[in-house]
Amino acid sequence: MKLVLLGYMASGKSTIGKLLSEKLFVPFIDLDEYIEFKENSSITTIFKEKGEIYFRNIEHRYLKELIHTEEQFVLSLGGGTPCYANNMELILKSDHITAMYLQASIPTIVERLIAGKDKRPLVKELGDEKLTEYVAKHLFERRFFYEQAHHKVVIDHKKIDAIITEIRMLLH
Ligand code: S3P
Repeated sequence: MKLVLLGYMASGKSTIGKLLSEKLFVPFIDLDEYIEFKENSSITTIFKEKGEIYFRNIEHRYLKELIHTEEQFVLSLGGGTPCYANNMELILKSDHITAMYLQASIPTIVERLIAGKDKRPLVKELGDEKLTEYVAKHLFERRFFYEQAHHKVVIDHKKIDAIITEIRMLLH
């Protein structure tokens, strides 16, 4: 089994991915953490010192590296991963990969981002009052890519256990 979780920042990809992997007895990989490990640097520092274009290049390279392994995994992507460098195409044409979009509404995303902006370079400097407009525009551009996933799970107002059950049912 190779399961890829995708969706906007703060949609729960990492939290859900980790728990799901435990239930499925399959290793969990978080792409951002993998990048940080490989580059020996935090995402924030990579953005600051080398810029977003560099980040998108290595994000693509490490994604390719991971999806070509023989291993099984639950892989949580970064929010922007599906939207750059033909990454979504790469995922969809790989055999045995199921792509799952964790769909969160704008208010849910904004509320969560306000609570955890610091580790997210794209929104770190934005005032809270600007977040709704930013997320709405960004999501409008990115939705095209997210919607190409094989399945979609709406996560708003749901408990983690319920989301995991829903994903497991979709996998059968
Ligand atoms: C990004 C999302 C982040 C991280 C980077 C860029 C994005 O991952 O990859 O800051 O473009 O949406 P999370 O979705 O895990 O926050």
